[in-house]
Amino acid sequence: MSSPKVTVPALRARKAQGPKIAMVTAYDATMAKLLETGGADVLLVGDSLGMVVQGLPNTLPVTLDEMCYHGRAVSRAAVRAHVMGDLPFLSYQASPEQAVMAAGKLLKEGGCESVKLEGGRDFAEHVRRIVSASIPVMAHIGLTPQSVHAMGGFRVQGRGAEAAERLVEDAKILEQAGAFGLVLEGIPSDLGQRITESVSIPTVGIGAGPHCDGQVLVCYDFLGMYPDLRPRFVKRFAEVGDAIVEATRAYVAEVQGGAFPTDAHSFGSSPKLEPTGNRPVVGSLPPGYGPASGE
Ligand code: KIV
Repeated sequence: MSSPKVTVPALRARKAQGPKIAMVTAYDATMAKLLETGGADVLLVGDSLGMVVQGLPNTLPVTLDEMCYHGRAVSRAAVRAHVMGDLPFLSYQASPEQAVMAAGKLLKEGGCESVKLEGGRDFAEHVRRIVSASIPVMAHIGLTPQSVHAMGGFRVQGRGAEAAERLVEDAKILEQAGAFGLVLEGIPSDLGQRITESVSIPTVGIGAGPHCDGQVLVCYDFLGMYPDLRPRFVKRFAEVGDAIVEATRAYVAEVQGGAFPTDAHSFGSSPKLEPTGNRPVVGSLPPGYGPASGE
């Protein structure tokens, strides 16, 4: 029997009931399917795709249309996992009205089931208005990558009593505004714990210590596929990047040495006697890859 769909009420209930929320980013259907098979609860179509997919130095140039494109790919593959979409830079900051329209587009055209937006108390009204349009919102505070220039780089936030207090207040204000959860990024562990204990909605940490109600990592980071940046909070659970390089080397060597392809990877002239041992090749291939009609 397949596991039930991860819904927003189910995610909220995890705070009291556990287990912790396991969230990962996903940007395409193939990866989404693999991550869901691995048991991820939430697939976040993060604007981090600007860096790990598009090769940009930060997330600022990512557009809402690009987010919708990747959202469609991920939501096509996800069955059990909840699909959340990031509101990219300048798609929501200008006004609560702009925020509702952008969030709605991520659901209507991007196939997402909730949205995430960066920012503290200044965005409480934006959250309220999105939620009143029946769109679930997760807020994101602490190190907010869309504020990279204002922060002077990707720097840990909430250090010092005043900055910490402000983040605790932000968390409570966003909960009051209707956010169903909070991403806490790049803050000291004790502050992650304090915020988690101060709100009744789940917190999902990334570089916020072990006390949050869940964790999120960029999939390319925890799979060891993004060598450009290696923040302290990333644990590599595999070295998929190395495996890809090795496999590519083997492929190149076989192509150049003539060892690939062999008959086993080639088509015979009779569709009834394929070298795969008569396995019906046509059914397993996309349209256009089977024998021509009439054969
Ligand atoms: O864009 C993203 O991937 C994110 C997560 C790292 C939280 O916002």
